[in-house]
Amino acid sequence: MIIIFLIQLIGLKERYGYRISDFYSINAVKNIAEHIVILLQLRGISKKFNDFNALNGIDFSINQGEIVGLVGPNGAGKTTLFNIISGRLKPSSGNILFEGKKINGLKPHRICRLGISRTFQSSRPFIKMTALNNILTGHLFGKGFRLHTRSEDVQMALELLEVVGIPHKAETLAEDLTLSEKRRLDLARALATRPKLLLLDEVAAGFSPVLVKQAVQLINRVRERGVTILIIDHFLTLSLKVSDRLLVLDHGEKIAEGPPNKVMKNREVGRAYLGLQHQKD
Ligand SMILES: Nc1ncnc2c1ncn2[C@@H]1O[C@H](COP(=O)(O)OP(=O)(O)OP(=O)(O)O)[C@@H](O)[C@H]1O
Ligand SMILES: [Mg+2]
Repeated sequence: MIIIFLIQLIGLKERYGYRISDFYSINAVKNIAEHIVILLQLRGISKKFNDFNALNGIDFSINQGEIVGLVGPNGAGKTTLFNIISGRLKPSSGNILFEGKKINGLKPHRICRLGISRTFQSSRPFIKMTALNNILTGHLFGKGFRLHTRSEDVQMALELLEVVGIPHKAETLAEDLTLSEKRRLDLARALATRPKLLLLDEVAAGFSPVLVKQAVQLINRVRERGVTILIIDHFLTLSLKVSDRLLVLDHGEKIAEGPPNKVMKNREVGRAYLGLQHQKD
């Protein structure tokens, strides 16, 4: 029995980054092992804007430690789904469970403090603030703010600048950063809230192949920190390289989900998403 739990511990540590000190008893191991199976669950999520169905009965789950790509053509409902998960919009029907608890109806800051953070399709830093202060602002709304002194907060923000690859930009005003640097800052600010689940909306849109390669490395670094990631990626530039699974939306419907190689062979995805008229089996 004990050997089985030790094997579980080693597996959890490798995959999710838990420390041995996180486990004090066999019950704790059991709880966490049960915990890690499903982090986020969407049950029949629909969203209507007047008579328009932006989302229609979406069922989907994300397991702890996964990277999932949320893909689909323009207007498929991807950002609307992020807005619903993060509390900016209320679903017209359906439920969202995070770590087994219903979160629909909660305000965005409450959802953020539970451990869900996001970036926006268009970069939104506080442009008149330095990169460092932007990150500190993210930290203010996240978990654990009151537990740290100012110098510890600054240390954390500097470390995040390092993680996202712009350590030399700490004192630069956000308005003076390039697009790629602003996206990195968005990511650092989102990470500063200490999320368990990170929602990234078109984080590599407009990136050159070199920047995409850097973004792949960056996302893998974030995963190594134990963060689960749902990434909107209209053009599949990142998601095919980093995702364990894809969720494909079209006209507010889920049309496919599964491993990227399998999903990309799906007839309906080829037709609806890539615009292919005839695909041979
Ligand atoms: N607040 C709103 N009021 C009315 N319609 C909306 C609203 N937000 C989104 N929509 C509509 O819902 C549909 C889905 O929009 P959404 O932004 O979620 O698509 P998307 O998949 O993110 O597309 P894109 O790849 O262009 O970002 C679109 O037809 C959009 O016009
Ligand atoms: Mg969008």
